[in-house]
Amino acid sequence: MAAPGAGGGVPRHIAIIMDGNGRWAKKRGLPRKAGHAAGAETFRKIATYCKDIGVEYLTVYAFSTENWTRPQDEVQAIMDLLEKYLKESIEKMEKDGIRLRILGDPTRLSPGLQALIRETDAITDRVQGMQVNVCLNYGGRDEILRAAKAWSEAGGEMTQEAFSRYLDTGMMPDPDLVIRPSGECRISNFLLWQSAYAEFYFTDVLWPDFSPRELDLAIESFRKRDRRYGGVK
Ligand code: IPE
Ligand code: IPE
Ligand code: MG
Repeated sequence: MAAPGAGGGVPRHIAIIMDGNGRWAKKRGLPRKAGHAAGAETFRKIATYCKDIGVEYLTVYAFSTENWTRPQDEVQAIMDLLEKYLKESIEKMEKDGIRLRILGDPTRLSPGLQALIRETDAITDRVQGMQVNVCLNYGGRDEILRAAKAWSEAGGEMTQEAFSRYLDTGMMPDPDLVIRPSGECRISNFLLWQSAYAEFYFTDVLWPDFSPRELDLAIESFRKRDRRYGGVK
């Protein structure tokens, strides 16, 4: 099958709730952290595929503000994977042509992770290419509150456009397509403001099993949608 990018119509901004790692591991009699490791590999594959087909922005939900309630060893395993990914990315970002941003509130993260995020930020602006946003200690409500606080300190006219700039996504375009694997049909506090007019795609496939073929199916579905934005055609 030709890459969807070939015929145009590829969403400019794709957002993914990377869900189902735990169930994937359970099905195989493995510890949940094995599911997170498999999910991290899927993320790499899908990010590369998105770049190949011409997606400009990819935003993935890696750890929510609510995920801290999980057992400590699971939280630690996820943080270790993220740290490993960030370290590798810092070395490879320029070569891979990927602009990496970490969205969310960094203040609750370990000093090591916070330092890696600062390092990433320092490099990413000089990289040309697809932007990958990894949402880490991210919650849509938390983001809106942080933005409201920052805006009230700065002052100025309160318009939707002005307010958007205080969100973690700043000047980025809103997501066109939000994908949630694993069979859950909910948003779980992801990009609440930004997904106002996003198209949603749900699939039963668990995130570690998600493949470029699955992404093609999501894009195919997206292309058939009639985006009216409240208007009539
Ligand atoms: C998504 O997979 C990863 C995180 C939320 C960190 P889950 O760990 O939620 O997997 P399930 O939903 O339990 O299968
Ligand atoms: C959403 O998945 C968060 C991430 C994928 C990072 P959850 O597994 O935390 O969401 P719920 O609990 O099913 O709503
Ligand atoms: Mg889940």
